Amino acid sequence: MKIILLGPPGAGKGTQAANIVDSYKIPHISTGDIFRKNIKEGTELGKKAQEYMNEGKLVPDELTCGLVASRLSEADCKDGFMLDGFPRNIFQAEYLDKYLSENNISLDKVINIEVDHKLLVERACGRRICKTCGATYHVKFNPSKEEGVCDSCHTNLTQRPDDNEETVSHRIDVYLSETKPLVDYYTKQNVIANIEGNQDIDKVFEDIKAALA
Ligand code: AP5
Ligand code: ZN
Repeated sequence: MKIILLGPPGAGKGTQAANIVDSYKIPHISTGDIFRKNIKEGTELGKKAQEYMNEGKLVPDELTCGLVASRLSEADCKDGFMLDGFPRNIFQAEYLDKYLSENNISLDKVINIEVDHKLLVERACGRRICKTCGATYHVKFNPSKEEGVCDSCHTNLTQRPDDNEETVSHRIDVYLSETKPLVDYYTKQNVIANIEGNQDIDKVFEDIKAALA
């Protein structure tokens, strides 16, 4: 299965990605996660990406496209993959199309998670993450059993630096101007499935499974 997950910041892409990779046994390629790992490790890429991410801007295409192509060329992506957070603008989508056609790969589905924008700020600002195992929680909608502690590995939960109200609002603006046009782009390619993301996490996943069936 070759899938793209599309949706605004806080829509639930990462949350559903965890469910999808678990069920379909495909690698999860999140450009946001790759950048955050590089920031944590203090690499050159991480230093460059951090400036943009902290302001809620897109990391430049020249830092992003090549790393996705290189990840897709790895052996574990041969039978399937799930791209989360890429492509993010028309340039990246055209770059990806070119890579896929040159390698005789076709997409099975673009899952587009739609959520009312008034909910997105609340979802992102209430998000808590585990830096050890990558689990995602929400203080209200998906709380850990013990407040502030990861259920799986007992690490103290933290907040992403870009999950404050001001940066989230800017990320939503960037989504509207840069990323939302991809909904039309993939509708024209006849591969899109629009998913009602205002529902609870399990129901959203039910609808995604139905769209992928
Ligand atoms: P990235 O990491 O991709 O973040 P994003 O797209 O802004 O998406 P989020 O991770 O914020 O949200 P999500 O949809 O995954 O939601 P989640 O499941 O966590 O990108 C970060 C930055 O990296 C960008 O701003 C940019 O700078 C850079 N970047 C990344 N890719 C790039 C690219 N291709 N090009 C250029 N720059 C790039 O859910 C959010 C919260 O809601 C959680 O707390 C969760 O528990 C809760 N929740 C989830 N689903 C539900 C539900 N159904 N009901 C209630 N609560 C829910
Ligand atoms: Zn954990």
